[in-house]
Formats: sequence, structure tokens, C-alpha cells
Amino acid sequence: MLAGKRILIIIGGGIAAYKVLEVIRRLKERGAQVRVILTHSGKEFVTPMTVGALSGEKVFSDLFDPTEEQDIGHIVLSRDTDLILVAPATANLIARMANGIADELATASLLAAAAPIIVCPAMNQRMWAHPATQRNAGQLAADGVRFIGPAEGRMAERNEAGVGRLSEPMEIVAGVEAFFAEADQPKPLAGRHILVTSGPTIEPIDPVRFITNRSSGKQGHAIAAAAARAGARVTLVSGPVSIADPKGVDTVHVETAREMLEAVSSALPADAAVMAAAVSDWRPAEVATEKIKKAAGDPPPLSFLENPDILATLGHDARRPKIVIGFAAETTNVEANAARKLAVKGADYIVANDVSPSSGVFGGDANRVQILSKAGVEIWPTLSKDEVADRLIALVARTLG
Ligand code: CTP
Repeated sequence: MLAGKRILIIIGGGIAAYKVLEVIRRLKERGAQVRVILTHSGKEFVTPMTVGALSGEKVFSDLFDPTEEQDIGHIVLSRDTDLILVAPATANLIARMANGIADELATASLLAAAAPIIVCPAMNQRMWAHPATQRNAGQLAADGVRFIGPAEGRMAERNEAGVGRLSEPMEIVAGVEAFFAEADQPKPLAGRHILVTSGPTIEPIDPVRFITNRSSGKQGHAIAAAAARAGARVTLVSGPVSIADPKGVDTVHVETAREMLEAVSSALPADAAVMAAAVSDWRPAEVATEKIKKAAGDPPPLSFLENPDILATLGHDARRPKIVIGFAAETTNVEANAARKLAVKGADYIVANDVSPSSGVFGGDANRVQILSKAGVEIWPTLSKDEVADRLIALVARTLG
């Protein structure tokens, strides 16, 4: 799997640097080409001689190397690679990366990098837990840097243990393999724009109260993530959920059905739309501007107005995406109700699921769905929501051609 992959390893100055020698060996065994930059403090822990012998390549360390005949400068080093692995990444190195400091060859190369970066932190557990390090690591994650570890266990310091250890060499190798497995996946939706809705909507009654439903957003978010993995540009319009925004997806946060419709219209044009949100069908007819006070024995009446149907609006819109997929959340007569929704809403496919409490679908991780189209019904086995998402995205890719 790693045959021919060009990996640049940056070894920082930590006691765990010796473990990275094993990583180099294992990556080489798997066919990778490994080049190494040692930070200045990294050289205190492993020698260029050892690293060079293991990698079979010249080891770099100095920003200005007078002995270098050709200019293999920091730009070339970090451009000419498929992956940069920073291990061990000390608190200091992480801080320099997070702040764009280019004070030696290793950090200048990281700043000039075009390749994806994986960081393997290694430090004392107090240093890892420190808010400054957490802030820096969070910044790197937000910049798209991936992490392997740190792991939990004993520290180099006597009697200290916690989270901060470098992950074991084979875990790092497995993480690198997983990275390439994902990166090398075919990208059938490259160049496509996919629009996804997810989560519930909430409809206010007064400034502190609202009505909503039990949608967790797990299925819609999984679809957005699957579309991104398939290479699409993804806009996810999500109601309030407690799960994180999927990586690599442009997430628009909304609350009400009308806000969701607005965000969906603004996201057009799209090649395909998957409407997985559990949109509230109604909203309170009047939203009180002040909190409604309790009057004993006199509960306020609630009357409702119908919300716009986002799927039906999109299904009949002049800017209708080529493929429109809706969901049908049913507790009875799943197939008949879903067939009606297919016709009424102008969808190409309806993903029908049984959301009765006994099914465990709402909030759960698994889903059992049937896919309705003009061509008929396809029943899928019970799958994880991620698997449903992958299959649905494969269907979108096939249909788009
Ligand atoms: N939907 C929508 N806008 C609404 C209501 C529903 O876009 N106001 C979409 C959902 O995102 C889903 C599909 O329509 O893709 C079906 O949602 P569902 O709640 O199952 O159907 P409803 O049309 O609300 O019908 P009912 O509640 O009677 O089952």
C-alpha cells in the first residue's frame, strides 16, 4: 500500500525520537521512500548517521547548507512529498507550527508544505494538557493537520503518567497506511457540488421555548462526510445538533425551517441534493417577543402555521439539482407513505426508514432503509449510518455518471 509513497519525516527533539527509527524501518519495509529532516534539537536525540543509514537517504537539518551542491531547499523538500510526518512533535515544535514560525529547516519546510501533514505529539502529560498546547494543537487541527496520538501511559520522568506519550511505532505506521488508504480512494464526485440538509429544525414559541424533534443529525452528517470523501464540494445545512461539523464540508448552521430553506436556496446550484433533515412541518403561528408568563389554570393555546416544504420546493424549482433525494421518516405504512412522498415532492429517490421508537433509528448509529424510485423499491440490510451514507453517495455518483 505504501509502495512508491514519498514520506518526509520531521524528527523533533524529544526523548521518543528513538522510536521514530523503528517507524522509518517499517515504512521502508512497506515500500515507502523516506526522507528525514532533523530539527536542531532532534539531533541531540538521534544522529544524522543512524537516520541516514535507516532511510537510505541524505538527512537534512540546516536551512542554509553550504555543502549542498544542488539546492534541495526547504521548498523542494516539502513539495516533493506525498505526506509529512512530524514525530515526535514536541510542545515547542507544535507551538512553532501553530504560529507559522520558520526558524530552521524543519519549520520552514512545514510552512512551505503543500502536502498533508500528520503530527504525532510526544511530551510530558502536563505540557500536553496545558491550555497553550491545547490551543496550538486545536489551531493545527483547524488548519487541516491530522494527529496520531498522543497515547496514554508512563512518562520519561519518574513516577509520572498520563496522556502525552508518542504512539507506538506500529500505530503510527497504521495511521499512515489509513491516511493513504483514504487519500487513494477513487473520487467519483470530484468537481461536483452536493447539498445536504441534516438535523432537526427548531421553531420558537417565545424567546426561551421552542418545538423540535428527536433528529440527531447523524445520518445527514454521515452523508455530507461521505460526499466529501468522494471528492465533492459539500454544503451541509444543519439544524441544531450536538455532533461536530464533518471535516472538509462547508457547514451552514440554521435553526428554523424558513432559515433552512433560505440557506438551501443560497447554496444552489448543486449537482445533487440529499434532504435528510427532519424539518418541523409546523411553526407556532405567533412568536411571543417576551417570555410567556404562567397564569395558573390557564395554559396558553398554541396554534400553528405550515412551514415551507424544502424538499418539495427544491424538487419543483427551476434550479432543481439533477438528483434530488428525500427521506421519509415513518412509523407506519413505510413503503406506501414513502411512495406518496416520492410523487408529491418531485424527488428522484426517497430513502424510507422506520423511525418508530422500537426501531432505535432516531439517535442511534444504525439504520434500515428502503430506497424508492420510479424504478421500484430496493431494500437495504441493517447498516451503520456511515454505510448507508457511502451507499447513497455511490448511488449519486452512478446516477450523475
Ligand atoms: N421535508 C422538507 N421540508 C419540510 C418537511 C419535510 O424538506 N417542511 C423533507 C425532509 O427533509 C425529508 C422529506 O421531506 O427528506 C420527508 O420528510 P417527512 O418528515 O418524512 O415527511 P413530511 O412531508 O413531513 O410528511 P409526514 O410528516 O406527514 O410524514
